[in-house]
Amino acid sequence: MGEIVLGIEGTAHSFGVGIIKGKKILANEKTVFRGVGIHPTKAAELHSMKGSKVLEKAFEKAKVKIKDINVIAYSRGPGLGQTLKHAAFFASVLGKKYGVPVLGVNHCIAHIEIGKATTKVRDPITLYVSGANTQIIGYENRRYRIYGETLDIGVGNAVDMLGRDLGYEFPGGPRLDKNYFKGKKYLDLPYTVKGMDFAFSGLYTAAKQKIGRERDEDIAYSFLHNCFAMLTEATERALAYTQKKELLLTGGVAASKALRQMMEKMCKERKAKMFVPDFSLCVDNAAMIAWQGLLEWKNGRREKRPEIKPKERTDMVDVFWIKN
Ligand code: ATP
Ligand code: FE2
Repeated sequence: MGEIVLGIEGTAHSFGVGIIKGKKILANEKTVFRGVGIHPTKAAELHSMKGSKVLEKAFEKAKVKIKDINVIAYSRGPGLGQTLKHAAFFASVLGKKYGVPVLGVNHCIAHIEIGKATTKVRDPITLYVSGANTQIIGYENRRYRIYGETLDIGVGNAVDMLGRDLGYEFPGGPRLDKNYFKGKKYLDLPYTVKGMDFAFSGLYTAAKQKIGRERDEDIAYSFLHNCFAMLTEATERALAYTQKKELLLTGGVAASKALRQMMEKMCKERKAKMFVPDFSLCVDNAAMIAWQGLLEWKNGRREKRPEIKPKERTDMVDVFWIKN
């Protein structure tokens, strides 16, 4: 697969442009709208103001020109309508102007496929943990099934909200993760697993109420301990149920040492193997969108006109590119 593909990511905070040649990543640039929570109009405005600069940078980095591009892929969902519209419009204007075919792809699935393309993982249970998303996913019979997911907010958002309350710089995740290892006392906090699903907002509220009454480090330790133990419990069950022997961790929270430690221990006990892609490919990025576009293009998918799907869930997509 030596085609050169341009990927455009714009589901939420970040607007990114990635360029790949087959599996080789030539450029993976982005601009990020910063803050806990997100203002859709402001994010879309930032994307449209900075979009062409990011594109220019990606071309410079990749040392290719627009005429070298064989396919353009964009993130069609899930995400915010306004930023998705901008990404799809950006892609289709480029495509029309330069006569390049355009394809929309699912953001969550792109996270999984780039993990498979860049690590040795083959048929994993994926734990996708980012700001807005928290899902346990596995391939079965032409679908990426969701075995477990958050019932309220994404774990990354819960972590960043507590980080803000503690006065940490955004995003609070990395600092909380450091403080986890300085915790000395476990504080009793809610632990919410319902079947294979989990919820974080009650845990967040209870942790917030400890601020000022307990050491910050003990709060970080106890809060992350519960967040990640809940995820580990449900992930282990998904591994047991599917009898899969590989775990792929992705999304920005996959950078957490505390999470990795817990997951690694669980995997070792079950004789499963854990894989984590490079951090730049765990967070939202456009190279993964390009790779997903290439997979779908090579397997025959064509698109008449661009279409966004803000509510497209991981398990709604026909996975026609995996043959078995
Ligand atoms: P999505 O739209 O897919 O939900 P996002 O932009 O909200 O994406 P990512 O870019 O995938 O999310 O990840 C950002 C999250 O990762 C933030 O919540 C951040 O706090 C968290 N994070 C990054 N590094 C660490 C770390 N070392 N420990 C814990 N959390 C981390
Ligand atoms: Fe993401």
